[in-house]
Amino acid sequence: MNILLIGSGGREHALAWAMSASPLCDKLFVAPGNPGTDQIARNVALAIDDHVAVIAFCRREAIGLVVVGPEAPLVAGLADDLVRAGLKCFGPGKLASQLEGSKGFTKDICARHAIPTAAYGRFTDRAKALAYLDAQGAPIVIKADGLASGKGVTVAMDMACARAAVEDIFSGKFGGAECVIEEFLEGEEASFFVLTDGTHALPLATAQDHKRVGDGDTGPNTGGMGAYSPAPCMTPALCEDALERIVKPTIRALTEMGQPYVGVLYAGLMLTRDGPKLIEYNCRFGDPEAQVLMMRLKDDPVTLMLACCDGTLDKVTARWFDDVALTVVMCARGYPGEPEKGSEIRGLEGAAAMEGVEIFHAGTAARNGRIIANGGRVLNVTARGATVAEARARAYAAVDRIDWPEGFCRRDIGWRALSARPSAAP
Ligand code: AMP
Ligand code: GLY
Repeated sequence: MNILLIGSGGREHALAWAMSASPLCDKLFVAPGNPGTDQIARNVALAIDDHVAVIAFCRREAIGLVVVGPEAPLVAGLADDLVRAGLKCFGPGKLASQLEGSKGFTKDICARHAIPTAAYGRFTDRAKALAYLDAQGAPIVIKADGLASGKGVTVAMDMACARAAVEDIFSGKFGGAECVIEEFLEGEEASFFVLTDGTHALPLATAQDHKRVGDGDTGPNTGGMGAYSPAPCMTPALCEDALERIVKPTIRALTEMGQPYVGVLYAGLMLTRDGPKLIEYNCRFGDPEAQVLMMRLKDDPVTLMLACCDGTLDKVTARWFDDVALTVVMCARGYPGEPEKGSEIRGLEGAAAMEGVEIFHAGTAARNGRIIANGGRVLNVTARGATVAEARARAYAAVDRIDWPEGFCRRDIGWRALSARPSAAP
């Protein structure tokens, strides 16, 4: 079958890498792709927001499956239009994507179905938001409603910071003028991924990422500076708890609302003293969590994705290599602010040839046979190993082979897992 994968990041390079090895995959197209996907698939320049053009492309190329990597096309309703045109799409429709697209939508579902999450208030009025803040006190968390690439959230440890965050939102800094103010949760964070066809739920391996830009989890939040799988903190009992009390009620809620969720549901969890609580949902694979999941997946990802589209997820399994996978995100100087673009990256081939190492491209571009930085998160240097220590040593050995003085990365990816006892969850 011919497959179209939508997206251009490290997540999509990793998905393309795993999908291109599927016995079911004939031609793999990536739109728009990046220089990494260009080596294993055919990159196509499609205007993703032109759904008619995407459908026409699918008909022309006899596409049997469309896989949507990022959230924006899902929130814009691409999956609905593809399915209406008779195409198979791995990724939820517009309504179900509101789980990521609107924090208020998700919080209201949690409230209706008693899903464990932080207590909250939802505001379209600045004065009411400020009054709620004063009543609650700090620490407290302020979130802009709508997509903000992980940048619309302020964890405020004092009231001045909390008030400033509310003022930012109502001054239109994030587009809309709606915010969610929620209880500060304490605990360890983990990413929990579940495939679903709207009826059945198949949990994937566990992972943890590192959201802060600096070593020791300091500095501003980012899209993710590195990840590893498995996450030792996610014991089988916690996975079961999160599946039964958080994810399954959500899947049922969407079906009841008239749009069964098809795709991967990513629950960002806080493991609190009172059990796992939902921080947020994403309607797609994590980036860079997908990179480590794909390195560990033993079964065919295309079979799993098709089972989601066909409603047959109860007929398939997802098995994992016991190895640990760990990825280090290399960024361009300036990220998560304005990244410097255009610097040349050398030594990628030597680094990628190292044992157990895969390098996934994210924000790169090819110019006259050279690879240059063209975004904030630029490369995902990913390695497998028998232990966290081995995977991490391999990943950093590969990082050190890459000649890119204008880039930087965290040097402590995996620190929590290194000090933890291994869990039995995959
Ligand atoms: P979000 O975009 O909702 O995932 O938030 C980004 C980050 O802010 C999360 O990964 C957490 O580190 C932090 N965060 C969000 N909500 C809370 C909360 N209620 N309590 C503590 N930290 C939070
Ligand atoms: N790694 C966090 C995310 O994909 O949203």
